[in-house]
Amino acid sequence: MEKYKYYNINNVGEAVNINGWVSKVRNLGGLIFIDLRNRTGIIQVVVRPENAFYDIACSLRNEYVINVTGTITERESKNLNLATGEIEVEAETLTLINKSKEIPFLITDDTTALEDTRLKYRYLDLRRETLQDKFVIRNKITHITRNYFNNLDFLEIETPILCKSTPEGARDYLVPSRVNKGKFYALPQSPQIFKQLLMVSGFERYFQIAKCFRDEDLRADRQPEFTQIDVEMSFVTEEDVISIGEGLVASIFKEVKGIDLELPLMRMKYNVAIEKYGSDKPDLRFGMEINDITEVLENTEFTVFKNVIENNGIINAIVVKDAANNFSRKDLDKLTDYVKTYKATGLAYLKYNEEITGSVAKVLSEIELMNIKSKLDIQKNDLVLIVSGDYKVVKASLGALRCKIARDLNLINKDEYKLLWVVDFPSFEWSDEEGRFMACHHPFTAPKDSDVEKLINDKANCYSKAYDIVINGYEAGGGSIRIHDENVQEMMFKALELTEDEIENKFGFFVDALKYGCPPHGGFAMGLDRLTMLLSGTENIRDVIAFPKTASASDLMCECPNVVDEKQLEELNLKVSKN
Ligand code: AMO
Repeated sequence: MEKYKYYNINNVGEAVNINGWVSKVRNLGGLIFIDLRNRTGIIQVVVRPENAFYDIACSLRNEYVINVTGTITERESKNLNLATGEIEVEAETLTLINKSKEIPFLITDDTTALEDTRLKYRYLDLRRETLQDKFVIRNKITHITRNYFNNLDFLEIETPILCKSTPEGARDYLVPSRVNKGKFYALPQSPQIFKQLLMVSGFERYFQIAKCFRDEDLRADRQPEFTQIDVEMSFVTEEDVISIGEGLVASIFKEVKGIDLELPLMRMKYNVAIEKYGSDKPDLRFGMEINDITEVLENTEFTVFKNVIENNGIINAIVVKDAANNFSRKDLDKLTDYVKTYKATGLAYLKYNEEITGSVAKVLSEIELMNIKSKLDIQKNDLVLIVSGDYKVVKASLGALRCKIARDLNLINKDEYKLLWVVDFPSFEWSDEEGRFMACHHPFTAPKDSDVEKLINDKANCYSKAYDIVINGYEAGGGSIRIHDENVQEMMFKALELTEDEIENKFGFFVDALKYGCPPHGGFAMGLDRLTMLLSGTENIRDVIAFPKTASASDLMCECPNVVDEKQLEELNLKVSKN
């Protein structure tokens, strides 16, 4: 089998033999033009009334499968938007290989068909060039990844899909066991425990392109079933792992996009990311940083702000440059509703024009307004948006608001890539719901050497050896140095308030493995789907997964999940409750 050929003006005169699908047929009262589509793109075929196969050409409909032999000729009227737009194929034979039912939507890049329809007929949707291109990129990324790790002596090792629950914080997908009635496997949320066990086994350098399963609320960048580039290494420091991780990303950017990333990548401490951007995955393609104006308003008489300060809250602001006149009262009401979805109690604003106007212009003193102006370096026509309240709520709502405004005002250059590592994550996050500290990453993440004791006596200030790689506001990957000392691991489990029984039940085998000469180790996992999204310019993760699920985790084409036979349920000793 030969490699695909991509024809252009330099191939004029060559004989060709092409298989593909009819993308479009035009009958110009005699001449018939067929747009023939296959993996290499679209090429125009000309059939003339005198051709023996003219009747076949007349009968062609969209998506019929045909074979054409003929000669490449130069076109009279050229289409320079198409790679093959200067040439056409003068048909010498035309064979109808297969017909197609009438298609439910036109197969074009700018289709207006509903996504649900396209997902139901995903095999047709995938014929669109724009989607095929994304799978070419996805394939390039996996290919580069395998080369990169092979060259560094990493071994690609598969780990089980039917396994015991792994602790990534989402809900598990469960699989009932027929042989062991009443017992269940869990699908892996990641290969985390297995890759650590492979380090105990002495493989030292492992990677895998691994399927992961998480039953969690879905978003534009989340699927229940997704793929990680999963990596683990022994005898390494944070610096080693970060350097291997960014080396991989740099190779991918170079080979897929021709972009030379400047290494080492920028690093930002977690606390700084939250302080300035209200997010642990800051999008640095635009400014609009979050500013703390609590101090400026420390003696304010305005009751809302005064109460916030008295309750140890904060008052923060973002500045939308030269845009005050772009925002009507109605627009600002909408932004208020938006920040309320992040639990903010409201959104105050100031417009600095000849006069200072806005929702809090009358209730703040002249001096306070001037102090805000100088603190935020306000120019004419700037808009100041203010949220006050609890630290977490204020940061999260202004963090989300800055991204929304940047999108709405088109402040983001879509061709730009801003990468960074977010480092020095806290080990724990307080959960109001659970009323206890939860692991910020998974419970095998090592604390900073200086913070080991804080696992017991100062959880709120315990920091870990974890890092995330962030690209354009997406968490593209993350990892950590792991705990390799069984005593520290035990302290961590205690910090998470796991009982002896829970530890034994969930991780007994793993804790045991740490006792048999476990090497120091660490690693990371990159989201292959997210990397592909970022490099192929889509914000919809479904575009880069061949057979994705909808937001309600179903596959519209296979109609799954679905009911199963009574007999299957019986074999599994399961009963489905009717209510
Ligand atoms: P984490 O949970 O951060 O780490 O996952 C690593 C990366 O996987 C991607 N990702 C997802 N992509 C699509 N859909 C999802 N539902 C989804 N969830 C995660 C993200 C994320 O950065 N075991 C650790 C890694 C380690 O410590 O080595 C882990 O799984 O891009």
